[in-house]
Amino acid sequence: MSEEIRIGVFVCDCGTNIGGVINVPEVVEYAKTLDGVVFADEGKWICSVDYLNKIKESIAQHKLNRVVVACCTPRTHEPIFKSTLKEAGLNPYLLEFVSIREQSSWVHRSDPAAATEKAKELVRMGVAKARLLEPAEEIRLPVGKEALVIGGGVTGMSAALALAGQGFKVWIVERSDKVGGLLNKLTRIAPLDIDAESFLQGIIERVKAEPNIEVLLNAEVESIEGYVGFFKVKVKQGENARELSVSTIIAATGMNEIDPTGLCGYGKSPKVITQLQLEEKLKRGDLGGAKKVVMINCVGSRNEQRGCCNIGCLTSIKNAKHIKELDPQAEVFILHRGLNLKGMDEVYLKDAMEKYRIKFIKYPDDRLPEVSEEKGGLTVKVFDLLLGEEVKLSADLVVLTVALQGDESVERLKGLLKVSVNPEGFYQEAHIKLRPLDFSTDGVYLCGAARSPKGVRESMEEAMGAAMRASIPMARGYVESEGIVAVVDEERCVGCGLCTKVCAYSAIRLKEVEGGKRKAEVIKAICKGCGTCAAECPKDAINIIHYTDQQILAQVEAALADKPSEKIIAFCCHWCALGAVDVAGVSRFEYPPNIRIIRVMCSGRVDTRFVERAFELGAAGVLVAGCEFPTCHYISGNYKCKERIEKLRPKLAQKGYDPEKLWTVWLSAADGPKFVATVKNMVEKLGLRR
Ligand code: FES
Repeated sequence: MSEEIRIGVFVCDCGTNIGGVINVPEVVEYAKTLDGVVFADEGKWICSVDYLNKIKESIAQHKLNRVVVACCTPRTHEPIFKSTLKEAGLNPYLLEFVSIREQSSWVHRSDPAAATEKAKELVRMGVAKARLLEPAEEIRLPVGKEALVIGGGVTGMSAALALAGQGFKVWIVERSDKVGGLLNKLTRIAPLDIDAESFLQGIIERVKAEPNIEVLLNAEVESIEGYVGFFKVKVKQGENARELSVSTIIAATGMNEIDPTGLCGYGKSPKVITQLQLEEKLKRGDLGGAKKVVMINCVGSRNEQRGCCNIGCLTSIKNAKHIKELDPQAEVFILHRGLNLKGMDEVYLKDAMEKYRIKFIKYPDDRLPEVSEEKGGLTVKVFDLLLGEEVKLSADLVVLTVALQGDESVERLKGLLKVSVNPEGFYQEAHIKLRPLDFSTDGVYLCGAARSPKGVRESMEEAMGAAMRASIPMARGYVESEGIVAVVDEERCVGCGLCTKVCAYSAIRLKEVEGGKRKAEVIKAICKGCGTCAAECPKDAINIIHYTDQQILAQVEAALADKPSEKIIAFCCHWCALGAVDVAGVSRFEYPPNIRIIRVMCSGRVDTRFVERAFELGAAGVLVAGCEFPTCHYISGNYKCKERIEKLRPKLAQKGYDPEKLWTVWLSAADGPKFVATVKNMVEKLGLRR
């Protein structure tokens, strides 16, 4: 006999955050009327220790076997409630999270009646899914004590030393013929002006003396297979290849200057060089007789393609001081767009101005100085914001502080590591605030300039952080991976193998079964549960635990149970899209209440059937929202989703639905305003009543 569904719904006031807008008692009373709900309650702060205890008591007292919490955002609070269920003896996957603060009270605060109505519907959608929830098991994998560090720069060596110091065996794989990376090219390290060579030598000596570290020079990672605790890494070293078995991997691949050809005369005159090229001259102690040096900061950065490089201002001051030390008579100008310095760097600046007499000129964001060569010398035209006029500077040497990009190896390694890269060529962390040194692939970590431009000090700090992250599973001896994974219905599977092609993690393979047939098989330890395979399977033979077709369709149906023609169904990925929704909420940006959000882990999970069902039930529109390209947290789910949606449009038209009512938006986790603008735009274009 199947178990009776007994759902408990807990609705939070969140002080006045929810209770000040939404009529919470009304939501609670409404929840009690929903099929399967045997208990509903209001709590002032349901994530408080007292109330969590109350949830545990209620589970026991009312024999609850499913729980719905209606409160803030799953992106921050889901783990707390999952643990509470676990402590109450309930499987944590029997929890459904409804976000009535970020998706209702904060964003519809000037219309409490609409906010309350929407909260009731969101709870209805949550309960509809909860009725179909099934327990899931986290998978425990053994983890050994060996790690691989890719990149033998100061960051990679620091990470290796931190790991080796805890007794772990570490291999450093370095592409070039020596360790040290970019630091080999620097003269000094700001802001203490430490001698780069002796500093680097100190670290190299420590690495050499550490028996747990083995450095492989002239070596490249050729392939990586496996998963946390069980990575098989093929490393090519000249003609030789060897296989390393490691449990964790740290990417510390560093960065490079962009090629500034075409900017500020670079490439036209040999007297226009970059900061790294200047470092070579400083190392030799020979400026080639240059007496007038003009440095131009922010070349190729702080524009639409790239943000601030973070270290350019400090680098320019450091090198300007060094020039003055080599030749006190030299005249050095730094042209900048506002100096990005912090803490003791400010003292450093004062010193540069007062003691070294370096001259600073601030130029406007939209007027990069112009460099021209006249009669063998250089002329720099710059608009001086302080004077309010253009000035001309003659120069013997122009030094460009250019933008930085991820090392060229990143492009190749991203496929091997199965991780994402941002448009600036740096690796994309799992979450900028919550998991800055993790990738979304378990057991793989990142640090230093592999992540974003950084100085030596910050890179070494991050290296320690990444080493600590990697040491957690190695010290514990196991990891538990999420129970959200793909499952194959072998009855339906015809062994076409499409799923094996779309899986970015190679987590599905085909196995031979009786009668010479082939069936898809999921390697649960590697599967990340993005759902792309499930959405692509032509036979609907794959489902995702906790995000099954049936559960998502139940949410669609519950959302459209009344007034469907006023509703927009939005499928949002848990990462950037929901992040943007949350930012809109936190920022209290108001938008029309017509939208009903259904969370999926990745936009790759959005099956065309979900969209069609929404239109079939009369939805005014459908929005599919995922991470902006190329930053999908599951590598390529958003690309697959985009292709699928484009193919769906003509099919919708054939079925008599207007394909113009199907929208997509690709967001960063900070794109609250873009999400709001999209909703407003949709509501207007679809002619909906607000
Ligand atoms: Fe956001 Fe894939 S995780 S689109």
